[in-house]
Amino acid sequence: MSQATAPNTATIEEVQTGPVPRHVAVIMDGNGRWAGERDLPRWEGHRAGMSSVREIIEGAAEAGLEHLTLYAFSEENWSRPADEVEALMALLEEYVATERAELAEKGIRVTVFGSLERLGEGAIRAIAELEGATAEGTSLHVHLAISYGARGEIVAACRSLARRVAAGELDPEEITADQFAHALYTSAWPDPDLLIRTSGEMRISNFLLWQLAYSEIFVTDVLWPDFSRAHLFGALIDYRGRDRRFGLVRSP
Ligand code: IPE
Ligand code: IPE
Ligand code: MG
Repeated sequence: MSQATAPNTATIEEVQTGPVPRHVAVIMDGNGRWAGERDLPRWEGHRAGMSSVREIIEGAAEAGLEHLTLYAFSEENWSRPADEVEALMALLEEYVATERAELAEKGIRVTVFGSLERLGEGAIRAIAELEGATAEGTSLHVHLAISYGARGEIVAACRSLARRVAAGELDPEEITADQFAHALYTSAWPDPDLLIRTSGEMRISNFLLWQLAYSEIFVTDVLWPDFSRAHLFGALIDYRGRDRRFGLVRSP
């Protein structure tokens, strides 16, 4: 794992000189601290973080990524104070209302995954509108993790396989890692090549535990509301220097 780094940035021209990862996942962290540093309420940090979401989606499309997965709200985040949860849900609706048309215009497809049954009516409607409006997009595919927890996802996958075994449709001996992966929310897209976490925390926080098995990890001290496309490009350049061995030995 790389150490928390001094902010390193790059330009789109530098990114265009070489290959980029297919799939980048981001733990968008540090909104509360960003607000605290400015004596603002936490929700102001979340609002400021929305501009970074817009910027990073644009940057990812510009860089030519195929998939961008953004951790927006964890299952554990439901236990935050009710006013913060309400503010986050209101921001989700606001985000969809303001960004939907532009995302569709740019050919960006957005899908949402997580325990969505826990969301209120307004948020569920907003998600359906966002997915519907952007369904034809063929450039970047953005996956938003909302009310998501990897342990819950893995348990649900076990349950669905167990149901098939109980129904006599599946022999337990035939369960493979590939088959297991197909029972996860993420079955239709490749595992992340690169995980970025902002705000310097060196942990996964129940995000994509299965899918991150061989992802490269990039932690930056930059707080999410300050994370710009130049920071994303810096992380993409850093990734280029990684030696992904997948447990094998380097070719001579
Ligand atoms: C990330 O920022 C956003 C969510 C988890 C919803 P935080 O709200 O966790 O900000 P910090 O970590 O307290 O600074
Ligand atoms: C992870 O951040 C969840 C999201 C970014 C949505 P948290 O702030 O909730 O994680 P911890 O509490 O620092 O592990
Ligand atoms: Mg946090």
